[in-house]
Amino acid sequence: MAVFRNLCALISKNIIHHARPVQMRIPSRGLATAKAPSSLFASLDTFSDRHIGPDDHEVSHMLAQLGYDSMDAFVADTVPEKIRVPSTSVSNESIPALSESELLQRAKELGKENKPFKSYIGMGYHNAVVPPVILRNIMESPAWYTPYTPYQPEIAQGRLESLVNFQTMVMSLTSMDIANASLLDESTAAAEGMVMAFTGTNGKKRTFFADNGVSPQTIAVLKTRAKGFGINLVVGDALADLKDDALQADLCGVLVQYPDVNGAVKDFSGLAESVHATGALLVCATDLLALTMLKPPGEWGADIVLGNSARFGVPAGYGGPHAAFFACTDKLKRKMPGRLIGRSRDVNGKPAYRLALQTREQHIRREKATSNICTSQALLANMAAMYAVYHGPVNLQRIAQKVHGFTHIIKNTVEGFGYKAVTAQFFDTLSFDVSGVVKDAEAVHSSALAAGINLRRIDDRHVGLTLDESVGTEDIVTLINVFASAASRPPISASDLAAAQEIAIPENLRRTSKFLPHPVFNAHHSETEMLRYIYHLQSKDLGLTHAMIPLGSCTMKLNSTSSMIPLTWPEFANIHPFAPKDQVKGYEQVIKELESYLCKITGFHACSLQPNSGAAGEYAGLSVIRAYHESRGEGHRDICLIPVSAHGTNPASAVMAGLKVVPVKTHADGNLDLEDLKAKAKKHKDKLAAFMITYPSTFGVFEHGVQDACKIIHDNGGQVYLDGANLNAQIGLTNPATCGGDVCHMNLHKTFAIPHGGGGPGVGPICVAEHLAPFLPSHPIVPTGGDKAINAVAAAPYGSASILLISWAYIKMLGGSGLSEASKVALLNANYMAHRLSGHYTLRYKNGKGRVAHELLIDLAEFDKAAGLKVNDFAKRLQDYGFHPPTCSWPISTCMLIEPTESETLEEIDRFCDAMIQIRKEAEDIITGKQPKDNNVLKNAPHPISVIAAEEWNRPYSRQTAAYPMPWLLERKFWPTVSRIDDAYGDLNLIVSTITLRQADFGTDEGLQCDCPSVEESASSL
Ligand SMILES: Cc1ncc(COP(=O)(O)O)c(C=O)c1O
Repeated sequence: MAVFRNLCALISKNIIHHARPVQMRIPSRGLATAKAPSSLFASLDTFSDRHIGPDDHEVSHMLAQLGYDSMDAFVADTVPEKIRVPSTSVSNESIPALSESELLQRAKELGKENKPFKSYIGMGYHNAVVPPVILRNIMESPAWYTPYTPYQPEIAQGRLESLVNFQTMVMSLTSMDIANASLLDESTAAAEGMVMAFTGTNGKKRTFFADNGVSPQTIAVLKTRAKGFGINLVVGDALADLKDDALQADLCGVLVQYPDVNGAVKDFSGLAESVHATGALLVCATDLLALTMLKPPGEWGADIVLGNSARFGVPAGYGGPHAAFFACTDKLKRKMPGRLIGRSRDVNGKPAYRLALQTREQHIRREKATSNICTSQALLANMAAMYAVYHGPVNLQRIAQKVHGFTHIIKNTVEGFGYKAVTAQFFDTLSFDVSGVVKDAEAVHSSALAAGINLRRIDDRHVGLTLDESVGTEDIVTLINVFASAASRPPISASDLAAAQEIAIPENLRRTSKFLPHPVFNAHHSETEMLRYIYHLQSKDLGLTHAMIPLGSCTMKLNSTSSMIPLTWPEFANIHPFAPKDQVKGYEQVIKELESYLCKITGFHACSLQPNSGAAGEYAGLSVIRAYHESRGEGHRDICLIPVSAHGTNPASAVMAGLKVVPVKTHADGNLDLEDLKAKAKKHKDKLAAFMITYPSTFGVFEHGVQDACKIIHDNGGQVYLDGANLNAQIGLTNPATCGGDVCHMNLHKTFAIPHGGGGPGVGPICVAEHLAPFLPSHPIVPTGGDKAINAVAAAPYGSASILLISWAYIKMLGGSGLSEASKVALLNANYMAHRLSGHYTLRYKNGKGRVAHELLIDLAEFDKAAGLKVNDFAKRLQDYGFHPPTCSWPISTCMLIEPTESETLEEIDRFCDAMIQIRKEAEDIITGKQPKDNNVLKNAPHPISVIAAEEWNRPYSRQTAAYPMPWLLERKFWPTVSRIDDAYGDLNLIVSTITLRQADFGTDEGLQCDCPSVEESASSL
């Protein structure tokens, strides 16, 4: 108590004597400064006034500070003249603006054009029941959807804990040693499993066998991925066709699906043994709900287990976004793709979570990375984990038993009409042979459509169906009567239904082991408790709800509420990705419009919305380039030039597309070394496939020579891939086509306002020039792509379709002129920030006119030299000021990359600059010896409340200096919940699951290894 009294006393004193006064601000006039409406009939709820932070007065003030009297003059000095496009290219004429209310009205109209048929199509997609407490408080809550990937764990403990719950849930249900914190979708997860099996043999064994019970979209994605790696993909009956000696000798892995796409539950334990005898891996795609009743793959010998977790409370959304899960055995963990959350401790020994084994990831290992995964599906993984927390093991099993029981009733009743179920061992999916009862499968489908039902189309003779949690008694009566009507049998009623006495799972494949024994899955089953748990976790996380997140290259802008609203409407949320075309007219219109807007913005000809992250877009775009070369008899072109400053996903994606990476130098000022590029392009001219360039570059530079660079590549037979992660600097000012590119991806989760979700979802569509359009990705169920299309790159035809609505709404509400204005203000905000910070920090790059692009790179190397202060010390100290640190140590290890975006007001930008300048002063005190080098506010940052309020305080600075270094923090303080986290300790003592009941009984988690792998290896072996 005494501690708290002391603290209150400190706070009530004038504790900010050392802080410099906040800069004089110009009065903010808000909307009063917005342009007057053109007529009485014009809307007043214009979105650009809400989206763009600075108002006209603030814009004028910033321009004046930079020495300009107009925005045009400023832009002219910032964006090279030769790449400028006419202002008409992206304007309100080309993309008209709608007000917020008009947009919602339009979305309603389009929603009505989607027909909400009840889909029993299955194939990995279900009608999930989203608990309202999760829908409202996670999916629709900016506290959960606006934070970034938890690279700053001290201000992200909430979602880190939730993601550990996800990992624990997957490990427990699959009975595997370790699981990651999600992948993009089930099919790409299977492709990652295949590559793990392949690289595990060091490329010596090249055959990967996929069972024909695997979903067709997964087989399609495997085909694309196998091509890049030169894997020989064989599809057949895994239980019958694997006897061949030559095949066995070259086998690196086998993929099975359990239950399979037709519903059969097969015993793969013998297969696991024989696959292991050849030295290959057994990969299993499965279903988490089924595993509450089925013997888990980890108990019958699978090495890798994966699937889609969406039926745990995530809407179908016409295909996504959903969180794929991925689990493996302990010995494979260092090859595992994707983010892994591990438990470590902070400097005071307090347990704390953080991203583990990051040295596996592409940003460190680049072309040697295990995969190119960067953004994954954190928000959806959190929803699925919370679903398991809410239901707990008992309710999950009840749900599974009901689904299974209903499926059994359907089988028995429908067989009574003469149809023949293809398998007698199933969980929730059935395939019926309809021959002998009706003319063909179409007879059953028409009967289903007449009842507002979609069944799975298998072939002329077979019809499939899959049940889920949403199915009630009335639904199964209707479903059964579809079959009755097609067979001209009298309809049944609910009173005719009789539960089966047996379960249709053979004894040896039934689950006997317990699952989810951990306290977290057994404590929050009332809505009150659940709500409190959700709020408890979210209170630990800093999102855009608190302050700006100025992460360079990440474009953390406003995710407007109006653009988020439509995607949880049932008309958009409850649509199966393989629903017939005439039921998805609303989605089709959204997709068509979004594709055309993205083409206008990039200057390209055609678009594919299928890739579900930026890195997936890179892989898709490079695969398109490869296919183009092949179509011209130049398939041997396999060299990809990539600047050393490129994002780690670039080289990792190039390798996945079968390309060999040759690095290109950059100058110290950030510009590409054109001489080196020329030399390398010439040297490899016979094999040059592509050049990847980020524009503006990752140094925050609008390179003048971009068109020259692209010409060098074209002259030597290559194609140019433009990484569009920085497109926010370009809209309406320049575009990737004008810069000289042939293909680019966009991160809709950056430039086009899809929230980052605490680590995903994302969408990474690609736009291409006309000559590449025929090669855009296809899909095995829903036709997409060009006439020479590459195979699918994602499970669903339009990837994470439901969130396309966000970017569609964003573009429509801003309109062309608003989009262009947003880019200009993004440039202005960054330049104003550069102006305020230079003089205090070393700005690493500016152009000849003194301008940066939409982000700025400051170099902190001098502080390391003078006082041993690292980038991380500044970053952690920023947390004490309530800010999310900028991107750290990338693209240069001693730098911070800062991107304010257009959504931040002058006041917020000044607040951030004030914080940075105050930290600079704190650093000065350390350099001059006023404060010790090893025990100071920067080295000890961040300061959580537990440290500030501790009985003991023996630091050479006061508590108020630690916690309230600026006046506004008294009003607006965000507390990190732990002190600085020890990364090395976490990797050396890898714990990736939540504590078990046994550990809870001990009251400690120290020293107890439970259902988590024991790791004695040292980090140096990574
Ligand atoms: C320049 C650049 N390229 C590519 C990517 C990859 O995008 P994603 O994380 O969506 O895979 C990023 C992500 O931060 C990036 O900054």
